[in-house]
Amino acid sequence: MSSGPEELADALARLRTGGLVAFPSETVYGLGADALNPAAVRRVFELKGRPVTNPLIVHVSSEAMARSVVSSWTAESSELARAFWPGPLTIVLPKAPKVPDLVTGGGPTVGVRCPNHHITLTLIEAFGNPLVGPSANPSGRVSPTTAQHVRASFDEDQVFVLDGGPCLAGIESTVVSLVDGPRVLRPGVISAEQLSEVLGRKVGPHTPGHVTEGIAQSPGQLASHYAPRTPVRLADRSEIVAELRRTIDPAVALVMRPMQVPTPHAAILMPATADTYAARMYAALREADECNATLILVERPPEAGAIWEAISDRLKRAAHS
Ligand code: TXA
Ligand code: MG
Repeated sequence: MSSGPEELADALARLRTGGLVAFPSETVYGLGADALNPAAVRRVFELKGRPVTNPLIVHVSSEAMARSVVSSWTAESSELARAFWPGPLTIVLPKAPKVPDLVTGGGPTVGVRCPNHHITLTLIEAFGNPLVGPSANPSGRVSPTTAQHVRASFDEDQVFVLDGGPCLAGIESTVVSLVDGPRVLRPGVISAEQLSEVLGRKVGPHTPGHVTEGIAQSPGQLASHYAPRTPVRLADRSEIVAELRRTIDPAVALVMRPMQVPTPHAAILMPATADTYAARMYAALREADECNATLILVERPPEAGAIWEAISDRLKRAAHS
């Protein structure tokens, strides 16, 4: 059941006292807290077990609110905001002094995003301050795409969960830097080509493993991330068939066409189109993780197109342990 006005009032009360509220978005659920309250932001890092060097995205409900958290809002920022907000795009810009250093991992830039979900836009608007919002999962684990996923990780007294139904895109926002580049720091459903078209100049594509001054540019890009507890391996269909014949240790395979699997193995059938695959991916990884298998085999998806590229990026990180 979607949250209504009563839950919204409870969520606001939590935020006003520095508490944490999980909010729905079109990408994944976020772990929200008052972005301008350092004590509240610290709680987010602690609860996630997140390294304090990994900056948080600041979520806003309008372009005006976005302007208030950056020190220079350029014409290009406006062009991107008008084309893609509310939506799955995070824009990295120089931060305003009022944004606590803790939010930005001590760095001079801030990632800003206006999420496309009516409950969350209403929440931010009513609260009046922007919200930090990392994905609402313990650091390094699979991102949540339902309210139930969030409740499985955190207690109700730690995190108040607003239920907005399953996330429609299912994969985290594209992060684009307008400070260094312009360049895509994390791939998502919005491609470098779409960004280039709007800006009228080239936006550099995501380069895996890009590192500046020893710090991962977008620390969510650390090799091991988005991981279930069960080991994950990417494999071609023929390798999966061979592996399931060979091993007696129970394995579960995420495949894109139906597959008969011998006991004791299991298969989860994944959608064959990129947008539906993305929407289903994290829930399927969670289901696979609950199969008590010793290995999750994932059929290697195609890499053509921005969404498949973003899917592959997440799966490779899930597989890297
Ligand atoms: O779709 C999303 O972006 C979701 C929803 C809840 O909005 N949020 C999300 O947050 O994925 P998180 O914290 O799980 O991932 C944020 C990513 C990380 O890779 C982080 O390093 C990067 O954005 N990031 C945040 N601020 C940054 C900055 N100032 N410079 C570079 N990268 C930044
Ligand atoms: Mg995350």
